[in-house]
Amino acid sequence: MKSEEIKLIDSNGKRLDGRGPLDLRKIKIEAGVLHRADGSCYLEWGGNKILVAVYGPREAIPKHIQDQVKALVNARYNMASFSVEDRKRPGPDRRSREISKVISEALERVILTEQFPRTTIDVNIEVLDAEAGTRCAGLTAAGVALADAGIPMTDIPVACAAGKIDGQVVLDLGKEEDNYGDADLPVAIAPRTDEIILLQMDGHLTIEEFDKALDLAIKGCHIISKLQRKALLDRYQSLIEGGDIE
Ligand code: CDP
Repeated sequence: MKSEEIKLIDSNGKRLDGRGPLDLRKIKIEAGVLHRADGSCYLEWGGNKILVAVYGPREAIPKHIQDQVKALVNARYNMASFSVEDRKRPGPDRRSREISKVISEALERVILTEQFPRTTIDVNIEVLDAEAGTRCAGLTAAGVALADAGIPMTDIPVACAAGKIDGQVVLDLGKEEDNYGDADLPVAIAPRTDEIILLQMDGHLTIEEFDKALDLAIKGCHIISKLQRKALLDRYQSLIEGGDIE
């Protein structure tokens, strides 16, 4: 079906799932869900379900990949075969390699890698259910899992997309909006300084629309950043109550 045939915003200004233009989908974040990982996070964002496990810093093997002055940040984004409507062929493809690369580079901006020369920090991002915006959801969950692993960072990275549907700039595109909309702008920031650590764009925006979408995505990031912090506080509160932390 062509994009012109689908109305993504109705006459009352509501989107297909009932949201207004500035609303996020529902987000739930839980830190420390896996026992064997050094840090972990489970995140639901609309219909997305993402699990992240962090290992490290640990010695980089084989030795020739080691960086003598800093840790390597190795994010691996993987979509489960059952996570999308048409079963996805297992294993890496061009898209997952691209997403792994941009997320690794974004995380490198905030992790204090110079503190751990010759090591790797592995960030496994598993998409269990996908419904648009998985790179933002994956990066946001990775930020929580890295903090849960106690990896020193200048900030907890967070991501959110804005986009354009039916000619209007809106926050956090859903599946149909991503498929039939005009543009998608995923953004990740370090929220204390608003430094942009990831910025991609699909589709077309005027300069004014781009500025508006960027501003909106950053506002979304700040809302989600609070949810990340709450998830981490809840995790450590439960450890204190359980007697695991003095
Ligand atoms: O997920 P994200 O928006 O970061 O990346 P995308 O490449 O723009 O993909 C948008 C959505 O398309 C994904 O979230 C999935 O819901 C869907 N998709 C799919 O159905 N099958 C694939 N092989 C890849 C993506």
